[in-house]
Formats: sequence, C-alpha cells, structure tokens
Amino acid sequence: MPAILPSPAFLYGTAWKEDRTANLTELALRTGFRGIDTANQRRHYFEAGVGEGLAAAYRAGVVARSDLFLQTKYTYQRGQDHRLPYDPAASLATQVAESLASSLEHLGTDYVDSFVLHGPASGYGWNESDSEVWEAMCKERDAGRTRLLGVSNVSLGHLQQMEASHAEMPRFVQNRCFARAGWDREVRAFCRERNIIYQGFSLLTANKEALQHSSLIDLARELDATPAQVVFAFARALGMLPLTGTSSAAHMREDLASVAMELPRDLVNAIEAIAG
Ligand SMILES: NC(=O)c1ccc[n+]([C@@H]2O[C@H](COP(=O)([O-])OP(=O)(O)OC[C@H]3O[C@@H](n4cnc5c(N)ncnc54)[C@H](OP(=O)(O)O)[C@@H]3O)[C@@H](O)[C@H]2O)c1
Repeated sequence: MPAILPSPAFLYGTAWKEDRTANLTELALRTGFRGIDTANQRRHYFEAGVGEGLAAAYRAGVVARSDLFLQTKYTYQRGQDHRLPYDPAASLATQVAESLASSLEHLGTDYVDSFVLHGPASGYGWNESDSEVWEAMCKERDAGRTRLLGVSNVSLGHLQQMEASHAEMPRFVQNRCFARAGWDREVRAFCRERNIIYQGFSLLTANKEALQHSSLIDLARELDATPAQVVFAFARALGMLPLTGTSSAAHMREDLASVAMELPRDLVNAIEAIAG
C-alpha cells in the first residue's frame, strides 16, 4: 500500500451522471481534481463508468492511481434498486465484502482510500445492523482493501451511539450540509473534537437562500469571486472537505480555484451566522 496521502482539498462527486460519468470523471482529473467520490449504488451512481474515466486518465498519463483518493460506499438494500452489488439473501457482513469487491473491480484497483457506510439502517439511531456492517467494514480495512473508513447521512445521535458501541470511530463523516442547521454545526463540532474529517455535500443545492443572501453576494463581489466559490472557501475555513458534482468544465475550474481563497475569520463568522 502507498504511503498515506493527505486528504485532497476537494472531492469530485460522481452521482447522477449516468452515461456521462466516464467523460466527466476524466475531465475532473484533467482539470486537477485528485479526490473522487462514488458509491456502489447503481440507482444514483455508475461506478463502472467512474472506473472507465480513471482508466482513460491513467492511459493518457494524466494521473497514476497513487496520486488519487478514491472513495466508495456500501449501501443497504433499501437504498438500492434491483441492480444490487451483492446477494440480498446473504448476511450484512457478506454483503459488505461483496459490495467492496465489486467496487474494486469497477474502479480497477485493489484498494480504495475510503469506504463509507452510505447511511445507517434507521433515521432514529445506530442499531445492530449498523454495528454488523461497521465491524465488517473494519475487517475490510484490516485486510487492506480500504485505507480508511467513513459514515454518511448521520445525526449527532447516530455518532454518539456509534461511539458508545464501538472501539473505533470513522475517519470521515459525509453529510448534506444545511446552512439552516448552522452548516451542520453539532455534527461538525463532534467531528472536530475527535479529529474526524467532515465532508460536506449539497453545499450549493441545499443552501439556495444563503447563496442569494446580499452579504454573501457583496462579499463575493469584493473578492472578485462567485458566491459558489465563497461557499466552498467558507466550508474549508470551517474545516470541511467539500464535494462538488458539477458537470461544467468552467465550474470545475472555478471550484478548484476556491482552494486558494482564504477568508478572514470575521467573514467566516459572518457567513456562519447567515442562516444559523
Ligand atoms: N452520501 C450521500 O448520501 C450523498 C448524497 C448526495 C451527493 N453525494 C455526493 O456529493 C456529490 C455532490 O453532490 P451535491 O449534492 O453537492 O450536488 P452537485 O451534484 O454537486 O450539484 C451541484 C449543482 O450546483 C450547480 N452549480 C452551479 N454553480 C456551480 C459551481 N460553481 N460549482 C459547482 N456546482 C455549481 C451545478 O450545476 P453545473 O453542473 O451546471 O455546474 C449542479 O447543478 C455527489 O456527486 C455525490 O458524490 C453524496
């Protein structure tokens, strides 16, 4: 296994791209993204297409596998359609192993950098199914098929219950980040205290009001940036690892350019307060 990479500054999300997945993944790599987020959930992702995009970029000498941070997910049957990457009659532990084996095949690699539980079995709490899945994920990590582990779509309650049930906590939490919830303030605080990296998605689509807020628009104008770039720079200033799933070459460039933007703390606090 290669040496541990630092997390990239941005993750390129591959959901909802269907037959454009391969081309857009390759374009994202050519544009400079080094982190790719996918899932073995055919309903929303075309993971084999991600693998085709990676292979095209390797062939063209754009990147090598060791330059990349590849993240995929295990999704419970209720989040899937009929195109399952595992035998639904098998135990959850077996499903986890089958799902990751299929992901490795799709992505043309023998390890991923991060393997994420797409969402707990219930919105109400961390339960026995989640524990079985988590233990199986830890075994996959121990076997070298993933470097790191994560959980997604979790509440503070899920994380607290998970901590009470397991010796090991995730390295990543991936959540939809709503400005109206203080940009997921409680979960971010939990993560910060435990050195868990918070990955935020839907930063633009879940926060249309915040993006149209006059103070954010004025600030963007002052910085000669777009409101989207301000939101990504703000997310990073809060310690998040943001995701973007743009299909536009111009937006890919814009989003990556936001990595170099540093917002003064008073502006970060002001944006945090917009919808908090
Ligand atoms: N764990 C989960 O359950 C979960 C759920 C949802 C998503 N995700 C992950 O997160 C990734 C991102 O999803 P998302 O919900 O954040 O939405 P998204 O798919 O990134 O959508 C962003 C939207 O904002 C638009 N946009 C406008 N200006 C933009 C700019 N400068 N930069 C980027 N986008 C701009 C995009 O349009 P253009 O295409 O025209 O730029 C697009 O319609 C997904 O692909 C997936 O990998 C995970």
